[in-house]
Amino acid sequence: MKQKRKNVLVSPSILSADFANLGRDVRALQRAGADMIHVDVMDGHFVPNFTFGPPIVKAIRPYSDLPFDVHLMMAYPSDFIDQFAAAGADIITVHLECCDDTPSLIAQIKKHHKKVGLSIKPHTKVSDLIPYLPDIDQVLIMSVEPGFGGQAFEKQAIKKIAELKALIGRKKVQIEVDGGITDITAPACVLAGADILVAGSYIFGARSKAAAIEKLKGV
Ligand code: DX5
Ligand code: ZN
Repeated sequence: MKQKRKNVLVSPSILSADFANLGRDVRALQRAGADMIHVDVMDGHFVPNFTFGPPIVKAIRPYSDLPFDVHLMMAYPSDFIDQFAAAGADIITVHLECCDDTPSLIAQIKKHHKKVGLSIKPHTKVSDLIPYLPDIDQVLIMSVEPGFGGQAFEKQAIKKIAELKALIGRKKVQIEVDGGITDITAPACVLAGADILVAGSYIFGARSKAAAIEKLKGV
């Protein structure tokens, strides 16, 4: 019997958007068929780059009713989770490698009734996530070293997705993959178990955002 195709979700990263016209680009992503908007927050400490804060999330909130999938690449995300929640984040993802205590971060995000994501960098083992899987909604597997868009996809992410899929079993935890995702690298990620694809340069570099998103959904 033909296996039922799962519907892959696409979360375009606005790290590749036009920062002078973020509202316009967020609106265009919704029109192009995005399922959520991936907001890459960088603090200049956890990663050597600096991007958006809560005021920017607040400013773009009215431009789309899609879930805001906020990826906190921050050393101390506990300092800003309350503000990102108030600004309109729907999913708040923190890094296992950050300097804050993971169980306290999970509780802090849940206090705001937001979805909880945990992310691991390429060199962090999937097994390090095991203690937290019963308490979170999604795992963000980085297929590049976090900090910049447009980097090359790291193949070892595929094995990590498959390993995580096996660990999740029947739990309701979604797998999101982020970094170097294109119509070429996405199929193996989905086959391994990815539910959500994050893509920045592939979508913003395409002639048609809608066609690029459609292609990712159909892998
Ligand atoms: C990198 C960010 C990614 C990045 C993806 O630190 O977390 O979301 O923007 O960009 P692309 O799709 O261009 O690799
Ligand atoms: Zn990201």
